Amino acid sequence: MAKFTLNGVEREVPDGINLIEAALLSKVRIPHYCYHPGLSPEGNCRMCVVEIEGIPKLQTACTTLVADGMVVETESEKVIQERTEVMEFLLRNHPIDCPICDQAGECGLQKYYMEHGLHDSRVAVEEKILKRKRVDLGPLVVLDSERCILCSRCVRFCDEVAGVRELVLANRGGRSEITTFPGRTLENPYSGNVVDICPVGALTSKDFRFKVRVWFLKTADSICPGCERGCNIYLEQYQNEVQRIRPRANPDVNRWWICDDGRLDYKWINRDRLLRAEGEAGTHPPERADEEAARMLKEASSVLLVASPRSSNENLFALKRFRDAALPRAALVGGSFRKPWEEDRILKRPDRNPNRKGMELLGLSGDLEGALRTGPECVLVVENDLLGDRPELADLLRGKKLIALASNRDATAEAAALRIPVCTYAETEGSWTNFEGRTQAFRPVLKAVGESRPVFRVLEGIARALEASLAWSDFETLRAETFQAAPALGGLARTSGGGAHAL
Ligand code: SF4
Ligand code: SF4
Ligand code: FES
Repeated sequence: MAKFTLNGVEREVPDGINLIEAALLSKVRIPHYCYHPGLSPEGNCRMCVVEIEGIPKLQTACTTLVADGMVVETESEKVIQERTEVMEFLLRNHPIDCPICDQAGECGLQKYYMEHGLHDSRVAVEEKILKRKRVDLGPLVVLDSERCILCSRCVRFCDEVAGVRELVLANRGGRSEITTFPGRTLENPYSGNVVDICPVGALTSKDFRFKVRVWFLKTADSICPGCERGCNIYLEQYQNEVQRIRPRANPDVNRWWICDDGRLDYKWINRDRLLRAEGEAGTHPPERADEEAARMLKEASSVLLVASPRSSNENLFALKRFRDAALPRAALVGGSFRKPWEEDRILKRPDRNPNRKGMELLGLSGDLEGALRTGPECVLVVENDLLGDRPELADLLRGKKLIALASNRDATAEAAALRIPVCTYAETEGSWTNFEGRTQAFRPVLKAVGESRPVFRVLEGIARALEASLAWSDFETLRAETFQAAPALGGLARTSGGGAHAL
């Protein structure tokens, strides 16, 4: 541990951390642009300067490690004046196009101008150096060079995290610009992260730009469903549609990053949703749908219940309880036919299901294909698009009574004799257990779409129609029972972290 004095107060912090982090642990925020905790420090923006006793010149906090006995001032007159001058320098050629900039509302320049700048520009508009305004860097990212403050976070991200040399700082002085290497584009599978870490509006997301002002967004802490890594994310909605996914920092899971596939894995939540229960004779209100499902299950000589590694632990547990309480002779097996993708050395895991581990720990894994081939008369499929992943199974299921609890009009729902709408993970609470056995909670950001209900509520309704007793007063009761019945899930891990900007 190191004892140092910060703004006149003695503090104790771990050795070997820089002054920005040391101050943060002491609840003092030192403004900074180029420093990012996930990248090597470069010390180029000069925004983080502090005064250190015994050293005549101001020092950059991001490149100075805390030391025993150090006396640091972050708010002295000299520091405050330097910060204002740095702000004036950084804004020297800035186009001030905040009204049409996607970063407005979460921009480091706006924030620090109000906190540390408040100067009047000494440069006439016509004297500003003009640069390229709409540079197509790659499939996901557009660059506005005039807004760039040359902090090099984006370059360091590509070099150090993505491991590809795609971006570079070219030219000199006022003509300096970020660009791609000749003949290359910004197309690494993690490229979207440069938009999150760009502290200004220079790098914007093609998927999000001009969609909605950020202050209209409502945000919830969530978990990416894209693979078994379970990256922590912010899920952001406007007008009850998901508009954007951003990484949520968690050093134990995804650090500050997410992959581009995960970033764009939200469009299905807004599209092709099943809004009402549908049977062969038309649509049903929820209660009627539950009765119809109960009738089909009761009349069948053999029943197979299919669970999914995309379901939450709580919904999987509810399905187990449903079987025990309402259909004790039914077979219950979980699995998935989703094709794996290529693992990489950064985050992506081969299994594209977020809860394979939870399903295993709940004892629901088994030979799904074998179970389907035994020829059950009625199959209840819960949150599992069997036919979308294995269309050839359609022959096997032909003539069977198929009931699908599905959020979307996927191939399985379309083939079912009865389809009942259920909420996606964006509309309910739940938890998934990642490949390392870490159980993480997600929270709703949307209101339930149409007549969709949480899976466990639909199961309760069907059980009621089967005259079985199955009811949870609320989600928390279900969660408590789930963790009690399966201690191997380990309880909920901490999932809240900071944002990607870390300004
Ligand atoms: S584009 Fe953004 S992240 Fe890259 S150097 Fe410019 S300001 Fe920094
Ligand atoms: S690595 Fe997996 S969990 Fe993480 S963002 Fe990508 S798809 Fe989602
Ligand atoms: S010089 Fe320290 S944050 Fe940029």
